[in-house]
Parts: sequence; structure tokens; C-alpha cells
Amino acid sequence: MKKIAVIAILLAVAATAGAKEGATVRSIALPVVETPLADGEGKLTVMSNCGSCHSLDYLVTQPRLSPAAWTAVVEKMRKVYGAEISDADAVAVASYLASGYGTEKKAAVGEAAGKGPAPKAAAAVSGEASFRKYCNACHAGGGNIVKPALTLHRKDLESNGIRTAGDIVGLLRDPGPGMPKFDEKSVPEAEARAIAEYVLKTFK
Ligand code: HEC
Ligand code: HEC
Repeated sequence: MKKIAVIAILLAVAATAGAKEGATVRSIALPVVETPLADGEGKLTVMSNCGSCHSLDYLVTQPRLSPAAWTAVVEKMRKVYGAEISDADAVAVASYLASGYGTEKKAAVGEAAGKGPAPKAAAAVSGEASFRKYCNACHAGGGNIVKPALTLHRKDLESNGIRTAGDIVGLLRDPGPGMPKFDEKSVPEAEARAIAEYVLKTFK
């Protein structure tokens, strides 16, 4: 496989060199098979870390995975296959994959633009149920599997200036590194509030 690739490159060099004599050969474009990736924060990190050993098709043809499962895939690439990816990049990659190719936002990528998520009933949203659905993979029991120091317990929240439900909703809309972004489309205002209130009253 490697050999074939090398030969292909050499042929490309020869062809280019023949075409314009004396020109440097630095500008050859390798025949890269482009896999279109969903837009989103971390896309570049994925493109730069995950396409070196196998095609990015490996990512987009996976069944949609939960954030925890994507984190596990990235860890496997690092620990089992020796992918050299910094901690920060690993978090960014898992977060990107969870939001672009995750189980939570089914309409995020490449699906018929018209059929967005069904509008959620404004009626009684249970903060607890939504927390389980969106947050539990990383924050079960109020912890944080990605960044263990940043739990959802009051002391940690307060030391980061997070005091009110509004602060938490703000954080969902604009999270720190490693946490997927929950925008209005995926988690409408009322549901976000209910989750925030559940967090404040549950993890003391
Ligand atoms: C050092 C090489 C290497 C790098 C870099 C790498 N992978 Fe892999 N990846 C592998 C190997 C080896 C396999 C399994 C072999 C196969 O099935 O062809 C694999 C398989 C996969 C699979 C298929 C499912 C599975 O669990 O086997 C996914 C998904 C995947 N990689 C995602 C990623 C992501 C995301 C990144 C970037 C963080 C990445 N890979 C970077 C080597 C790598
Ligand atoms: C894929 C994992 C993941 C998911 C899912 C996730 N988070 Fe987070 N969360 C993180 C990470 C990582 C951080 C730390 C980010 C940083 O460095 O600022 C964090 C930080 C937080 C914080 C601040 C904690 C502190 O001590 O400063 C709150 C509050 C929070 N998340 C709430 C939520 C809620 C509510 C949900 C569900 C709607 C959620 N998170 C879903 C990974 C996740």
C-alpha cells in the first residue's frame, strides 16, 4: 500500500517536472480523496489529526455515537493505534464528532435540510430527563469525565463564576473546550432552563 502511494507520487513528480522544466516540484497536489465533513468547531483539528492513517470516511460512516463513545474511539486511536494527538486536540475531536456525528443531534449533518428536529412541546420539560439525555455521558452524578476538575458541584461552578440558571444556559450556548455546544435548535430555551435548574438543585 505504501509502495503504491510512493510510486504514484513519483509519477506525479515526473509528470509535473516534464511539463514545466526547471520548476520546483513543491506544488504538487497529492491526490487526496476529500471526505466532506460537517462544519463545526474542531473540524480542522479532526482534519489534521484523523486523516493520516485512514480516510476520514472512517468517521462519517460510523453509526452515530454518544459523546462517551466518541471519546472512547479517540482514546483507542491514541492508546491502541498510537495516534499522536495532544490531550487538548483529543477533546476537541471527540467534541466535534459528538456534535456533528453524535446521537443527540440527528439532523446536524448531511441530512435533508428541511427535516430538522421535530419542534419540542413547550409543555412540561423535565430537567432531569433532559440532563440524562444530553449531559449524563460526561457529567453523570455531577462529575466530569473529560475534565475531572470541572464538576457540576456548586463549589466548582462558583469558582468559575457560574451561579445562576442563566449562567448555565449561557454556558450551554457557548461552552468551554471539550463540551459540545447546545444551541437553541437542539435544546430550546425552556428545556435549557429546566436542565440548569436541575443541575443547581441536584449537585450541591
Ligand atoms: C496512527 C494511525 C491512526 C490515526 C492517527 C487515527 N486512526 Fe483511526 N484507526 C486506526 C487503525 C489502525 C484503525 C483500525 C484498522 C482498520 O479497521 O482499518 C482505525 C479505525 C478507526 C475507526 C473505525 C472504528 C474502530 O473503532 O476501529 C474510527 C471511527 C477511527 N479510526 C477514528 C479515528 C479518529 C476520530 C481519529 C482522530 C482522532 C483517528 N481515527 C486517527 C489508526 C489511526
Ligand atoms: C462530551 C462531554 C460533555 C457533555 C455531553 C456535556 N458537557 Fe458540560 N462540560 C464538559 C467539559 C469538558 C467541561 C469543561 C469545559 C471547560 O474547560 O471550560 C464542561 C463544563 C461544564 C460546566 C461548567 C463546570 C465547571 O465546574 O466550571 C457545566 C455547568 C456543564 N458542563 C454543564 C453541562 C450540561 C448541563 C450539559 C448537558 C446539556 C453538558 N454539560 C454536557 C463536557 C461535557
